[in-house]
Amino acid sequence: MTVIQTPADWPTDWDPDSLVRRYDEVRAHTETLAAPLSPEDQTVQSMPDVSPTKWHRAHVTWFFETFLLADHEAGFAPFQDQYWFLFNSYYETLGPRFSRADRGLITRPGVHEVGDYRANVDDRVRDLLASLDGGTLDKLGPTIELGFHHEQQHQELLLMDIKHVLSRNPLQPVYAGAPPAPSTPDELGWVEVEGGLVEIGHDAVTQGPQGFCFDNELPRHRQWLEPYRLADRLVTNGEWLEFVADGGYRRHELWLSDGWARVNGEGWDSPLYWTERDGTWLEHTLHGTWPLDLGAPVCHVSFYEAEAFATWAGKRLPSEGEWEHAVETTVSTSSTGASVVEPVETPALHPRAAGPATGGLRQVHGECWEWTSSAYHPYPGFHAPAGAIGEYNGKFMSNQMVLRGGCALTSPGHARTTYRNFFPHSARWAVSGVRLADGGAPRLGGRR
Ligand SMILES: [Fe+2]
Repeated sequence: MTVIQTPADWPTDWDPDSLVRRYDEVRAHTETLAAPLSPEDQTVQSMPDVSPTKWHRAHVTWFFETFLLADHEAGFAPFQDQYWFLFNSYYETLGPRFSRADRGLITRPGVHEVGDYRANVDDRVRDLLASLDGGTLDKLGPTIELGFHHEQQHQELLLMDIKHVLSRNPLQPVYAGAPPAPSTPDELGWVEVEGGLVEIGHDAVTQGPQGFCFDNELPRHRQWLEPYRLADRLVTNGEWLEFVADGGYRRHELWLSDGWARVNGEGWDSPLYWTERDGTWLEHTLHGTWPLDLGAPVCHVSFYEAEAFATWAGKRLPSEGEWEHAVETTVSTSSTGASVVEPVETPALHPRAAGPATGGLRQVHGECWEWTSSAYHPYPGFHAPAGAIGEYNGKFMSNQMVLRGGCALTSPGHARTTYRNFFPHSARWAVSGVRLADGGAPRLGGRR
């Protein structure tokens, strides 16, 4: 059976009723997100990094079928033999799979057959959970919990991906809702942090919903931080416009070499979803295309752009240790002294302007993932679990940068302070933004 690395104090009192209830909630949320989309919407793949909505709905189902039912359902047989080939994402241990870049070619099964697949696996998972004895349930708890959080990750990906799909449609369709009224830019403040010998990484006793974390958040460990300060809010669209107007995308001295190659090779002159029309800047959102809100956080910028902006501003990006320690010590604390995640009840679908200053960090969860200066590497003592599930995170620990926080597309209850998101340096289709840092760690490239 699959064994998942878990924190030492992981809860072991798994209750079948609550697991089924949470299973149903997570699965229903995926269907709610897909509901506004037609079968045609759900089938398109607009670039190799994007997966069709239909594929996400099937893949998260395949995950429960593969990692839960296959080993533990009496008389298991797959719903469809070919689905194991179509809906395996990247697990080499499980055999060959269909090309990621060609997922848009999977016109069959259709959305209704994917719905049948989901319903079938849902029934079987509920039956399985109801039939397990306490000991088996305790052993399977971490796998089931991982399945919940995996599906939540794909809920965010589903929204990220459909945003890109709809952006390529000249009719500029709306996914849902309407944008909030334009906001007034709020003054940027700074939060001073003493640093010193601090701890980062997940602590199951005091952090996170149900004590869950991904393996890449472990183990909690010590890190030395020089005194530093962080901006108390995210960089706004208005500030990014100043960067554009000051030649930010035309001045090589602001860019790391690889970033400058991207600027020139891909013709970047603004964030991914901005367009200028008759002197007015517009932004594509899930609410449609609207005039840029100058007070809202800039989003859909790459690591290279974030880093160039910080250099232009005479600042730098925070390291992930600085970010985590600052949130733990300045946002809110529990009675044990550990950080408390701000609950995100409903994804906002687009980052919102900062509220009034608090003296601590604002916009930490629920607006934009924040690029850090930290490469996505294992923590000291990290080890991936055995078997296919060990491919979940560890094998991606090269050529990517860590992002922290959470975003307006992140599912309720999914974000936490120790969460390590990661994307390649040039990725722009995630809801990625910028928080500036100063003092402390050195600036990349040793520039001003
Ligand atoms: Fe996945």
